[in-house]
Amino acid sequence: MNAITVDNLRRVYLAKTGVIRRQTKEVTAVEGISFEVGQGELFGLLGPNGAGKTTTVKMLTTLLIPNSGSAGILGFDLVRQAADIRPRIGFIFGGERGLYWRLNAFDNLRYFANLYHMPPDTANKRIPELLELVGLDGRGDEKIEGFSKGMKQRLHVARALLHDPDILFLDEPTLGLDPVGARELRHTVLDLQSQGKTILLTTHYMFEADALCDRIAIINHGQIVALDTPKGLKKTHVGDLSVVDVEVFGIPAEVVERIRALDGIETASVEDFDQRQILHVQTPLGQQAVAPVLRLLETEGLRVGSVAPREPTLEDAYVRLVGGETA
Ligand SMILES: Nc1ncnc2c1ncn2[C@@H]1O[C@H](COP(=O)(O)OP(=O)(O)OP(=O)(O)O)[C@@H](O)[C@H]1O
Ligand SMILES: [Mg+2]
Repeated sequence: MNAITVDNLRRVYLAKTGVIRRQTKEVTAVEGISFEVGQGELFGLLGPNGAGKTTTVKMLTTLLIPNSGSAGILGFDLVRQAADIRPRIGFIFGGERGLYWRLNAFDNLRYFANLYHMPPDTANKRIPELLELVGLDGRGDEKIEGFSKGMKQRLHVARALLHDPDILFLDEPTLGLDPVGARELRHTVLDLQSQGKTILLTTHYMFEADALCDRIAIINHGQIVALDTPKGLKKTHVGDLSVVDVEVFGIPAEVVERIRALDGIETASVEDFDQRQILHVQTPLGQQAVAPVLRLLETEGLRVGSVAPREPTLEDAYVRLVGGETA
């Protein structure tokens, strides 16, 4: 049996528009998606802003009712058997609040355990185990107002695990964390998987999805546009391409458009750094295809720094699939 089976799930929102003449219009957030997640699998949902990731997670965690389609969680029907599903799943949403700053970590968890009607003895035994699991052992008696964002996020994960769910839904768990905090949280996620949990994760960070996920669904405009292992996605979608990174300084969007239109260029995307940008040029023709790009930049009077060919990454596959929209 699969942990999660999604069949043609669809969700429409009624969005209000206008201030004086209030009207409603329909926004289709999820347009009939289907996928399966095996037990113990770490499955990623990747896609640009507004792609429908959170809506999907909200439906699968019984917080939002689908308009049509169906889904099974551990064999239970999402709509008809929601009460059977809830004790078996846990979830966190990125940038979530809802911890009590003046309480210590232990009491925060005890508060939620109480809400979930967990007997105090069980809670007192379970909470230290959870704190250890998320790398907060020995910190239980500290008030969380002194916790870093990463520590708070790991406490959220502990909160989601209180009732020992089989499946964990993590919507952008590393949102807003610094690199160290994010890395620690990724370790926690892998630890959870090694303990047999099934995990569905959404993220905007490609390297994170590449490093963590067994399989990834790329979702755009409410539809799944690709679903495979990270390796498979790279092979299928950018296996025939080379990528050249060109360092530029102050490149206008209009020039990027013209580069995309050059012969022999599959697509190009720009990554912004402080004073400079890296132009990622995808081409099926190898490095020589970059010569016209460099000529164009020169004609525009733009300063060019390093030019470096490299292996395509998951991000390159993503850029090709969702057409240069940033994640
Ligand atoms: N409560 C709501 N009312 C109306 N429209 C909504 C509502 N929630 C989401 N939407 C719309 O549904 C679409 C999908 O939103 P969703 O939050 O699922 O995307 P997402 O992939 O999680 O994006 P992000 O990466 O920004 O978190 C968007 O067009 C969004 O504007
Ligand atoms: Mg979201």
